[in-house]
Amino acid sequence: MSSDLKAVILAAGKGTRLKSELPKVLHPLFGKPILMHVLDTLGALKASEACVIVGHGRAQVLPALDCYAESKTAQPEGASETVITTITQEPQLGTGHALLQVRQKLSAWAAYTGDVLVLSGDVPLLTADALTRLLQVHRETHQDLTLLAAALPNPFGYGRVITEPSPNGPPSAVSVTRIVEQKDATEAEKAVSLVNTGIYCLNWAKISPLLDQLSNQNAQGEFYLTDVIALAVQAGYSVGLAHLDDPEEMLGVNSRADLALCHDVLNRRTLNRLMADGVTILHPASTFIGPDVSIGTDSTVLPGCYLQGSVTIGKRCTIGPHTTMSGTVVIEDDVKVLQSSVRDARIGSFSSVGPFAQLRDGVELSHHVNIGNFVEVKKASIDHHTNAAHLSYLGDATLGTDVNIGAGTITANYDPIRDVKSQTLIEDGAKVGSNSVLVAPVTVGQHASVAAGSVITKDVSPWDLAIARGRQVAVSDWVKRTKGITEPV
Ligand code: UD1
Ligand code: CA
Repeated sequence: MSSDLKAVILAAGKGTRLKSELPKVLHPLFGKPILMHVLDTLGALKASEACVIVGHGRAQVLPALDCYAESKTAQPEGASETVITTITQEPQLGTGHALLQVRQKLSAWAAYTGDVLVLSGDVPLLTADALTRLLQVHRETHQDLTLLAAALPNPFGYGRVITEPSPNGPPSAVSVTRIVEQKDATEAEKAVSLVNTGIYCLNWAKISPLLDQLSNQNAQGEFYLTDVIALAVQAGYSVGLAHLDDPEEMLGVNSRADLALCHDVLNRRTLNRLMADGVTILHPASTFIGPDVSIGTDSTVLPGCYLQGSVTIGKRCTIGPHTTMSGTVVIEDDVKVLQSSVRDARIGSFSSVGPFAQLRDGVELSHHVNIGNFVEVKKASIDHHTNAAHLSYLGDATLGTDVNIGAGTITANYDPIRDVKSQTLIEDGAKVGSNSVLVAPVTVGQHASVAAGSVITKDVSPWDLAIARGRQVAVSDWVKRTKGITEPV
């Protein structure tokens, strides 16, 4: 038996019940479209190719897939082993018709003799473990087609798996005969609790020709992929069952309520993983952490945090309360981030951020940096032991080590007339007085000092003091004279 593996992800359907302009498979969970959750899971199986069937909203789905493939190539471990291809299904005449597109349009698959995993783009909680087990059952029991099924207390809405006692097995063994959809089921069939997850593993060379025989004579007038089961049984192929232990994994996103439910499940999984790994999460009910977040031992996440994206946090950090992170974030050990927003940033060890700080768009903080309250830092690199404690904007800037930024300092990086952004360089040991404006492009040299309230438009040489404000004038007894007070006070 071949060990080759390819996958097809059905993602062409409309998702009517979401009532959205965004295609269903692009609705995000923790900032990542549900389709990409499926592709990420598939990544662990190291399939050689994943063919995504697109249709409804493909003008949005195709660029999202390109973007996903690019992000995978850019990762340090290099390009993923799974090549993503796409096929258009137009019009969308059902799940069987979707898979038929691969047979009809992907000539490269015509001679393929390996296994194909069929997945749904709207089922984001399925784990790589479940897929691995499906593949294992399929291969170890030498099946031509294996379907992943689950027993549900409330099977309503799903296709029911109809079985009969297995002729050559023990009394408990059953063999699959067919699948019947909810809308086509008799009352007796509706009582069956074993449901089809919509996930299959099949021998492409044997099973794909059966797709030509599908008909749309059913309640929905669609070409059901599920009818391939009965066709395979009739053709004498071996059809097996793999069981999904945790039915939660088969939750599909068909409505906004499903989306919220999937978000909850994913969150709970991540929180449980992190707590098991030695992270303190004081109030799981108000803490939201996406699947691509890793946190070192003895770190604490306080209530009200929402962490999504590719976030790596070191040991002994304290995050929150009320902190958001997104994009690519790397935080070293012993860092504190309090009530702040962090997007695409790197924070060195023993640094402290917040409360009410915003770091964004490629900020690099070295170790022992202090970014205090109401400080916004954008596209800036800040060296160790530098301090910007209050009420500042540092954008398009490079700060050396041991710099002190006084309260209210602003880097004026943007010229709205020419529509250009310019750089500010503040060298090692420089001290910038409170309420200064540094009009970029400008450099404050090493150990230079800027007097409070200055508007700096020219470079400041090392060790100089720059004062750029009106001199203070004392007008003697002005108040007295203005008020007409003549007696001594
Ligand atoms: C399907 C199964 C059902 C199973 C359930 C599990 C069929 C006929 N039924 O039902 O037995 O219990 O999944 O979740 O297969 N799609 C296309 N092109 C189409 C139609 C659908 O690509 O023409 C895609 C959808 O985008 C979706 C997936 O196929 O990702 C499943 O389609 P959906 O309409 O959601 O099927 P269900 O009714 O959920
Ligand atoms: Ca569905």
